[in-house]
Amino acid sequence: MRIQRMELHNFRNYELQVLDFSDGINVLIGGNAQGKTNLLEAIYVLALARSHRTSNEKELIKWGQQTAQIRARVVKKVGSVPLELDLGQKGKKARINHLEQAKLSSYIGNLNVILFAPEDLSIVKGSPQVRRRFMDMEFGQMSNRYLTNLTQYRKILKQRNRYLRNLHNHVSKDKVYLDVLSDQLSAYGAEVIFERVSLLKKLEGFAQKVHKEISQGKEELEFQYKSSVPKDRFKSVDVIYQNLRQQYASIQEKEILRSTSLLGPHRDDLKFVINKKEVASFGSQGQQRTTALSMKLAEIDLMKEQTGEYPVLLLDDVLSELDSYRQTHLLLAIQNKVQTFITTTSLSDVQQELLKNPKIFRIDNGKVSVE
Ligand SMILES: Nc1ncnc2c1ncn2[C@@H]1O[C@H](COP(=O)(O)OP(=O)(O)OP(=O)(O)O)[C@@H](O)[C@H]1O
Ligand SMILES: [Mg+2]
Repeated sequence: MRIQRMELHNFRNYELQVLDFSDGINVLIGGNAQGKTNLLEAIYVLALARSHRTSNEKELIKWGQQTAQIRARVVKKVGSVPLELDLGQKGKKARINHLEQAKLSSYIGNLNVILFAPEDLSIVKGSPQVRRRFMDMEFGQMSNRYLTNLTQYRKILKQRNRYLRNLHNHVSKDKVYLDVLSDQLSAYGAEVIFERVSLLKKLEGFAQKVHKEISQGKEELEFQYKSSVPKDRFKSVDVIYQNLRQQYASIQEKEILRSTSLLGPHRDDLKFVINKKEVASFGSQGQQRTTALSMKLAEIDLMKEQTGEYPVLLLDDVLSELDSYRQTHLLLAIQNKVQTFITTTSLSDVQQELLKNPKIFRIDNGKVSVE
């Protein structure tokens, strides 16, 4: 899929901007703080109805304005579809084909994007939260079932934590209701874990291939899903559910004492292993970067397999963070395949050689001009 045309109204430092993109490589060049990341963010927000940079959506609206709009025409195999997202002081509205969507979960997934930013290079070493977020954002885009179960899980988790607090403070006494919430949390949690494990297995297959290539056949990359549920229980949703049920029953008192849910997918993690050694503890910086790059490239293939279309790729400042060997690998892998947006303050000679017919946009203080 690709974005043909995008219009921004009062989004971040853009007042009114219409952009016609190339199906191939789009390079956004400009100095610091001119609006390069803001433009990628607009694409990301249009796809996922939330920002990767802030949870306070009012920040996305141009200072001094009340509303912002992002509109785009997205071209897919089945035809082209207009997507629109309005951001206001009280929330957002999403429209597909000019029809407002009551649920964001029916909107998300119409435009698939993969964002690769310098922070992603630290996915291996970063906090578990970064890796959970990665799984949730990627899998939520490619599987509506995942997104729906995750949304329900989060809702019940909030309710359950609130209720644990009430039990702790003796505001409530009824443990039967806690049991109801534990049961629901186990049910949705089991769905989330099962789907994470199965999508990770597929992602691992693609990532292994890429990683092997970049490491010239020397390295075997593996992903391991780390959960309070033992991995021999990953067989089916029901087996995971039974296990979570049991565990919640056995730690009930501790959870009341701590006023929070101590296990479930919101506490799980993802580990990377190269040649049987954990990358976070034993991997060199180069190996960590190769792992991150392999994973991003694998996402492109997985997205294609799951949805039938290649996603749109957003590369924010990553080229300058990769050495020329890895840059070459990345750029060759996406060539003639994926619509790509690259931000940079300047293009190096290596990049200029590798980027075939890019469309170049100059960004200056929230204004875009085509070269
Ligand atoms: N809501 C807003 N309204 C108006 N301007 C904003 C808003 N939010 C951010 N900005 C402006 O956008 C600028 C940042 O733009 P952006 O992050 O896109 O920079 P960039 O071109 O990616 O720079 P760098 O090369 O440093 O990454 C901020 O310095 C700020 O002036
Ligand atoms: Mg930036």
